Amino acid sequence: MHSRTRAATNLPALIMAVLAMLVAVGALIAMRDAEARAQRAEALATQAQSWKPRVGQAMLLSQQHLVQAHLGAQAKNWDLASHELDEIEGSLLLASNVIDEADRAVFIEQMRTFVASSLAPLRKASEASDVAAWNDAMNVAVKGCNACHATFDHSYVRVRVPSTEASGLGALDFAPLP
Ligand code: HEC
Repeated sequence: MHSRTRAATNLPALIMAVLAMLVAVGALIAMRDAEARAQRAEALATQAQSWKPRVGQAMLLSQQHLVQAHLGAQAKNWDLASHELDEIEGSLLLASNVIDEADRAVFIEQMRTFVASSLAPLRKASEASDVAAWNDAMNVAVKGCNACHATFDHSYVRVRVPSTEASGLGALDFAPLP
């Protein structure tokens, strides 16, 4: 009887001790994970600082954002569409930062034209949640992309209205120039 009483009274204490141990081990693991995450974040930050895209790489971002903007708009995901428009502008700015000094002034001038005459109508359509207006504006915008390509002797990079394929490649017409 006596030992049973002792066991009964000690059981909660035992459970508490085991729980406390588990919490301590958990805390240790969490600390190790947090440390590993911090180290990884630092490595990524260093990498990001030293990564400088080439103009073509920044352009591939524009292309992907254009696809996502368009497919987002077709699905009436206007938050996504307007986010992607910001990203297109961001990727063009990125390109303007890394382009050869000799080409920069012309690039920036063309970029401003593109923002005003191609991105602005898309933004307006997005704000109005108007798919038909968006599609009209997209027909204009791809011509805007290509006008700048022509200026930089890249007419063979022909952007087209993205197809519904969920692929970045859907934005390009791969046929050779006639
Ligand atoms: C202000 C000028 C300008 C505008 C606007 C512009 N581009 Fe470009 N784009 C360039 C230049 C310059 C290149 C050639 C980059 C290089 O040197 O490789 C290029 C190349 C590209 C390429 C080829 C990348 C590769 O190497 O495979 C794609 C794709 C592209 N652009 C997409 C777009 C899309 C989509 C838009 C419109 C949303 C757009 N561009 C608007 C200047 C522009």
